[in-house]
Amino acid sequence: MHEIPLLEVRDLTTRFDTPRGSLCAVDGVSFSVERGMSLGIVGESGSGKSVLVRTIMNLLPANASVASESHVGFDGRDIATMTPEEKQHLWGPRISMIFQDPMTALNPVRKIGAQIADPQRYHLGRTKRQARANAADLLAQVGISDPRQRLEQYPHELSGGMRQRVMIAIAISCEPDLLIADEPTTALDVTVQRQILDLLSAIQRDRQMGMLLITHDVGVVAQHTDRVAVMYAGRFVESAPTGTFFRNMGHRYSGALLRSTPQVGAAPHTRLHSIAGRPPDMVNPPAGCRFAPRCEHAVGECSMPPDYREIADAHLLACHNPNAAAVRTKEGTAQ
Ligand SMILES: Nc1ncnc2c1ncn2[C@@H]1O[C@H](COP(=O)(O)OP(=O)(O)OP(=O)(O)O)[C@@H](O)[C@H]1O
Ligand SMILES: [Mg+2]
Repeated sequence: MHEIPLLEVRDLTTRFDTPRGSLCAVDGVSFSVERGMSLGIVGESGSGKSVLVRTIMNLLPANASVASESHVGFDGRDIATMTPEEKQHLWGPRISMIFQDPMTALNPVRKIGAQIADPQRYHLGRTKRQARANAADLLAQVGISDPRQRLEQYPHELSGGMRQRVMIAIAISCEPDLLIADEPTTALDVTVQRQILDLLSAIQRDRQMGMLLITHDVGVVAQHTDRVAVMYAGRFVESAPTGTFFRNMGHRYSGALLRSTPQVGAAPHTRLHSIAGRPPDMVNPPAGCRFAPRCEHAVGECSMPPDYREIADAHLLACHNPNAAAVRTKEGTAQ
């Protein structure tokens, strides 16, 4: 029997009304996340990663609209059909999110301790004392020293990196089934970053938590995800198990993205190749492959939109002229 995925997203499309016209930030994206699995989403700035997860979390601004055919299912239930009360018990305790900008996500006029303890009291029924003790433990786990004193402080008394760690503590405080982490470690130095990602990976394994990890850092994807999806101009252009992806990426954009990111173990000052050109204007995107105007390997067919299809086991690709190695895999598995 096919197990129901923890999160199932199908044909998700999100548009914004802008003075220049309708901007399609996410365009027909489909994927799923199983329990205990971590999906990494990578892509340049503006590709739609945050809008995608904000759509899942129902956190869009007033000028946004989600297309009617879009489907988001959690644990077999269509989120759109849930009552407001059911949704209240979904976001926070079952699906939680670490935001890209920690300052806007913390309440400036409430102490850190209350902000970590309250959701546990409300959702898990913990007593004030239990929740506070747990809040101090969580702060220690995310690497904050003197956690008991910190509970008494306000967000503005903490550095940006510490606020980000508080956000992470809040996000894992109710032991969610699914954690959505949008660039969770950008404000942190490398050592703390590693500590936090190791913590999240350990929780993911121990509790079979599903994780959606958005990052610019391909090294983070290599070490902390089971599967990778590459997003370009609102669409997924390639997705594969992490090992397969790094051995055999097919999309020309995936390769370019990898070459533009510092590699783990590379010599210091290794030159990075930035990707020539700019991502398209999402009010008027190219009709065919959206990467074609920047792609060295573009051919005539690229003026038509490529299908997003399975080229090998669990390896999906939307490219008319992919890296040959990836296509050989397809032929190899077909025989
Ligand atoms: N409120 C809004 N109104 C209009 N357009 C928006 C709005 N929010 C986001 N967009 C547009 O949607 C597109 C996707 O933005 P998004 O924030 O999802 O990118 P991202 O992939 O998360 O980038 P980054 O890596 O910089 O975080 C961009 O073109 C952005 O300008
Ligand atoms: Mg973003």
